[in-house]
Amino acid sequence: QKPVTIQTLRKMYGEKSPITMLTAHNFPSALMAQEAGMDVILVGDSLAMVSLGMSDTSEVTLDEMIVSARAVSRAVTRSFTVGDLPMGSYEINPEQALASAIRMVKEGRMQSVKLEGGAEMAPAIRKITTAGIPVCAHIGLTPQRQHALGGFRVQGNTLDKAMSLLADAKAVQEAGAFAVVLECVPPDIAEEVTGALKIPTIGIGAGNKTSGQVLVQDDMLGVRPADSFLPKFVKKYGSIWDAGLAAIKQYKDEVADRSYPGPQHVYKGDAKVTAAFKA
Ligand code: KIV
Ligand code: NA
Repeated sequence: QKPVTIQTLRKMYGEKSPITMLTAHNFPSALMAQEAGMDVILVGDSLAMVSLGMSDTSEVTLDEMIVSARAVSRAVTRSFTVGDLPMGSYEINPEQALASAIRMVKEGRMQSVKLEGGAEMAPAIRKITTAGIPVCAHIGLTPQRQHALGGFRVQGNTLDKAMSLLADAKAVQEAGAFAVVLECVPPDIAEEVTGALKIPTIGIGAGNKTSGQVLVQDDMLGVRPADSFLPKFVKKYGSIWDAGLAAIKQYKDEVADRSYPGPQHVYKGDAKVTAAFKA
């Protein structure tokens, strides 16, 4: 299959063919996402919480994101790749944003970057895109700003907030973003914003009328304990935790009763050597 490029995504958008996007944080998860046919693989800063056990995304550094991105890049030959710029790596000024984006491309080996924010990030988006690095914007619920937003909650649910969401969407489009993630927005608002733009919207918790969807792979695969909190918008398509736990328990039991390793798991010795060794 041909690699997915910015042109492929534009074509899909033009044909109203939903764009599929999923996170990956390491080599095997990237291989799996690609094998399943994901158009876009995102190295999200959700890395902080789902893979590194941090309490929120503000803790993860650009260096840590780059380690994860480089691992993902080694697996990906077909999907289009996006690397998240973590909190603190792009907000100070457009020069800082470009420097971080360049690192994400040169060291992280990503094809594009994503950053959170609307109209106020337009200068940074323009700076990065004019340097030749595609930018995906991210508006609505922006987890890096959770303390300013008052937690993880639906966005754009008042007229004022819906109007500013639309203004943000237009501003990031105008600044050159190739796509925009809409997170935790009522579906009708997401549909209106999608209709008002000329670039794809990638929804998460934004209903099924956006140009595409994104989920965190660890969430939809059930990688964490079965009773872990998941946002309302996540559909759990798998239970990796249950499968892994059962397998590890079986390993423990089989070591305990010596049924593992079995005859098929050992190397054949030389009978003469064994006899001499024993003697
Ligand atoms: O960090 C992430 O995984 C993301 C997606 C949820 C869009 O930004
Ligand atoms: Na993110």
